[in-house]
Formats: sequence, C-alpha cells, structure tokens
Amino acid sequence: MLYSATFWEYFHINVIGVKQRRLIEKEFLLAKKLQTMGVITTLVAHEFNSVLGIIDGKIQLLMQENKDKETLVEELRLIRNIIKDGAEIVHHMNKFTKIRKDRCCYVTIDLLDIIKKTLDLTIPKWKDRAKREGITYSMNLDDVKHTSGIKGNPLEVREVLINIINNAIDAMPEGGTLSFSTWEEGENVILSISDTGLGMDEETQSNIFDPFFTTKEEGTGLGMSIVLGIVKRHGGKIEVQSQKGKGSTFILSFPASKEFPK
Ligand SMILES: Nc1ncnc2c1ncn2[C@@H]1O[C@H](COP(=O)(O)OP(=O)(O)O)[C@@H](O)[C@H]1O
Ligand SMILES: [Mg+2]
Repeated sequence: MLYSATFWEYFHINVIGVKQRRLIEKEFLLAKKLQTMGVITTLVAHEFNSVLGIIDGKIQLLMQENKDKETLVEELRLIRNIIKDGAEIVHHMNKFTKIRKDRCCYVTIDLLDIIKKTLDLTIPKWKDRAKREGITYSMNLDDVKHTSGIKGNPLEVREVLINIINNAIDAMPEGGTLSFSTWEEGENVILSISDTGLGMDEETQSNIFDPFFTTKEEGTGLGMSIVLGIVKRHGGKIEVQSQKGKGSTFILSFPASKEFPK
C-alpha cells in the first residue's frame, strides 16, 4: 500500500526516528562500555585487593610490634583507614560492573520502610557535617504515601537511595531540604526524591549515568551508574529533572508488586 505523507507527517516521522535511533545507539554504546569495563574491573579489582590485603597485613604487624609508640600507631591507623577507603572503591567498582541477573533475593519491599531505614543509616554522616559547619538539612517525608510494595533486593534498593541521598547532600553545601514522595501510577509505584541544592546544567544531566562521570574533585563518578544498573535490573526507570541553581529531582518508577496488600 502506498502511503502518502504530508510534509509535516514526513518531517515528524523522520525527526522522531532520528531521535530514537540516537537514544538506542547511546544505550547500546553504554552497554558495550559496561561490558568491557566489567572484564577490566574484575581483573584490576582482584589484583588491587590482594595488594591492599598485603599492605594491610604488614601494617597490622607493625602496629603489634610497636604497641608502645603511640604516635606511630596512630599514623598507622590512619593509613589503615585510607586502605579501607581504597577497598571500598574497589568494592563499588566490582559491584557496578557485575551483572546480577538472578532474582533469588527479591522480596516485597515497602518504600516508606526502606526510605526510613536508609535515612537512619545515612543521617549520622551528614548530621556530623552539618553540626561542624553550622548548617541544617531537613528531611521531608510528608508526601510518602502508603503504596503497594515493589519486588526487589532490599540491599540494592538501599544502595540506590544511599547514592541519591549522598549526592543530594553534596549538592547542598549550605544546607537545604530533601523531600521524598511516593504514589502509584497504573501498574507502577513512583518514588520522587528532590533536593534544594545546586542543580545541574544540561550537559551534566545528560552524562549523569555515565560511569566515571563526576564534577566533584574527589568523586568517583560511579554512584549514578550503579543506581541506573540496579533500577534497570528491577525493571524500573529513572528520570532526572534539574535546573542549575534550583535543585534536582530524581523520579524512579518500579513495577508494583502484586503480592503486597495496600
Ligand atoms: N542531586 C544532585 N545535584 C546536583 N548534581 C548531581 C546530583 N546528583 C548527581 N549529580 C551530578 O552527577 C555527577 C555524577 O554523580 P555520581 O555518579 O554519584 O558520582 P560522584 O558523586 O562520585 O560525582 C556528580 O558529580 C554531580 O555532578
Ligand atoms: Mg555520588
């Protein structure tokens, strides 16, 4: 059948087509990048971990042998802490490239419950900083409604929240408010997390999920790519809305768990 399109129909079809193609190409490239990085990081992480383990062992020995030298022991303790930081980075690298397809640990998660638990975990970190710097952070959970649950691995969902919360705190160096809200939309449960921080320009927004993309001096650039990986594994979606100087909002959508009573 011959389809005769008007100029505008033709224009529309082609523009949408190009846009979609670009999006698919971008996703494909990202998947390829992750695959390659998976192989490299596993090797590097393995080597790195054994080196760190040897150094740590030697330091523990030195600490034992020099128990009476307080200053030296304190310095050695500091070095051990740095080694722990290094091990943590390796752990994150490994975690983010590992493709865990098994859903063995999936349970029904109540979002309100996991938000509260994650805040309890992260609060000590920013409370200390806030106290030191004389700033205030407030958490607003007023709009967290009792929704259906989502199916997932609680540890991974917690990891998602921790990364988003930490980034929000980083983006609010002078204090601010972090607001959570949840609601249901069709078959999905939506969670939105907003901060009143520095916000992002368009370029940052379009690179935010790229591994190693960071605008921070001491950033790893891995947090949001870990978040994307976990959200995708859970059959969910994540969207960023932000304006420079006006804060950021992350909207996460997960399939509602049918097993969870309202
Ligand atoms: N809530 C936020 N507000 C402003 N910028 C953000 C926010 N979350 C993420 N970003 C931007 O995205 C970048 C990547 O974040 P992430 O992957 O967590 O890495 P990192 O925190 O190590 O920089 C950050 O460096 C920052 O520029
Ligand atoms: Mg981060």
